[in-house]
Amino acid sequence: MIARMMKWSLLTMLCLAGAIAVSLAIGILLAFQQGAGPENVDQPFESRLFIPPVLQAEKMDDGRRFHLDVTEASHSFINGLVTPTKSFGLSYLGPTIRARKGERIRIDVRNHLRQSTTVHWHGMILPAAMDGGPHQAIPPGNTWHAEWEILNEAATYWYHPHSMHRTGREVYEGLAGFLIVDDDNSDALSLPADYGETDIPLLIQDRQFNADGSFSYEADPRDLLGRPGMLGDTILANGTVGAFVELPRTLVRFRLLNGSNARRFNLAFADNRRFHQIATDGGLLEEPVEMTRLMLSPGERAEIVVDLSNDSDSVMMISRPIYDRNIFFTGFKTLVGSTRDENQGFSILELRPVNDAAADAELPARLTSMPELPADDGHPDLHVQLSGNRINRQVMDHDRIDHVSRADSHEIWEIEALDMPHPFHVHGVQFRILSRDGAQPPANERGWKDTVLVHQDERVRILVPMPPFADRRIPYMFHCHILEHEDAGMMGQFLVVDDRHEDAGVSDDAGVVGASHH
Ligand code: C2O
Ligand code: CU
Ligand code: CU
Repeated sequence: MIARMMKWSLLTMLCLAGAIAVSLAIGILLAFQQGAGPENVDQPFESRLFIPPVLQAEKMDDGRRFHLDVTEASHSFINGLVTPTKSFGLSYLGPTIRARKGERIRIDVRNHLRQSTTVHWHGMILPAAMDGGPHQAIPPGNTWHAEWEILNEAATYWYHPHSMHRTGREVYEGLAGFLIVDDDNSDALSLPADYGETDIPLLIQDRQFNADGSFSYEADPRDLLGRPGMLGDTILANGTVGAFVELPRTLVRFRLLNGSNARRFNLAFADNRRFHQIATDGGLLEEPVEMTRLMLSPGERAEIVVDLSNDSDSVMMISRPIYDRNIFFTGFKTLVGSTRDENQGFSILELRPVNDAAADAELPARLTSMPELPADDGHPDLHVQLSGNRINRQVMDHDRIDHVSRADSHEIWEIEALDMPHPFHVHGVQFRILSRDGAQPPANERGWKDTVLVHQDERVRILVPMPPFADRRIPYMFHCHILEHEDAGMMGQFLVVDDRHEDAGVSDDAGVVGASHH
């Protein structure tokens, strides 16, 4: 009996050791090879990339006014099938809103849907009442007037709904658009800036389709290892499946936006060419950063410049499988056949150089200057633990304020992810990454950010300059930008107050917030 038990446990141990060894081997293999073929390799890239039109505005006395419609629509993505969608007045997605730093804009958002929704200006530094988070619901048939002065620097931002528990579905069905800010500094630089010609907005998403062409959306997909969020097997570039874009043989800028619900992209080119990142979420980098891979998690943006002056053949923009920090875990996932984003590569967009080379273009050596970072020491003002669709072990509660900040102050927040990587996003601010596990962030992450990918078992410290707007009733949100996690409650609320609100405290204001909404 004892001998049998010993034999059994020996066998178990051997199996376990075997599994660990195989996982490790696969992990290491992935780490070094990093180039498994794309999943959609057989798909033709024969559809012209859709470029969202720029939204026209009316002049007002003190600024410009835009109209945005939230509508039911339909669009054909694959095989001539019709997909029911939602959009901002198009058949899928929305027009590009373009504004200047210092300008006052007003956006009238009309909700033509049968349910209430909201429109959030992701990345904007604005008063909480204009943020478009869950606190600014627009009932069906109503119009919401958002109005603010653009304080942000030139960069690529975006807008999308933020309804409680429905954000994932609404974005999935097509509600997303670009918001591009220009300023004097960026105008003065010689960067590719011809919208749709040398300056290409590129919203990348993955989608899952049913056989009849409709979107196959699951609000809470689960696999063996947890809840990865909604992943799909079809890649959309500005809504185009199998997209190509014709480009002049010169420097070309891409304004990349990961508009996926849950998928990270490890962007690269099929020929492994170098490119330069010039901007992060909320502004230009001090200088262009040369790279061959760019990790973009849901909600993040990056502007890159690619040199096509020596190209005669087309080149594919791809996403490579991701090698996560935890080699063993990555290997294990591969072993159990997980179809999470780590293990998948995709072709995204075919770049087709067309005309003669333009005069040799060169990137400016210097793009902007960033304020000096303070020493990263001391106790964080807020500690955020991300795990299991919860923040600090709690799900979002409309009637609970999780943190109170002072307008115009600087805070250090420390964020850690326990169970998987989570892209952490803060409303109303542009922050700086102070450190990742105590080390300086990579060069391409030293610009203004509003969303940061926090890897599993990692501690990220960020410096958050609080907005100059105080409001003791309406909070801003912070959350995971995997939309299924956000919808499941991986979100918190913070108030920004000033001296007039000396008495604002967590328990005190929780009541105020609740009272204003029930
Ligand atoms: Cu783009 Cu609250 O998010
Ligand atoms: Cu946001
Ligand atoms: Cu998450």
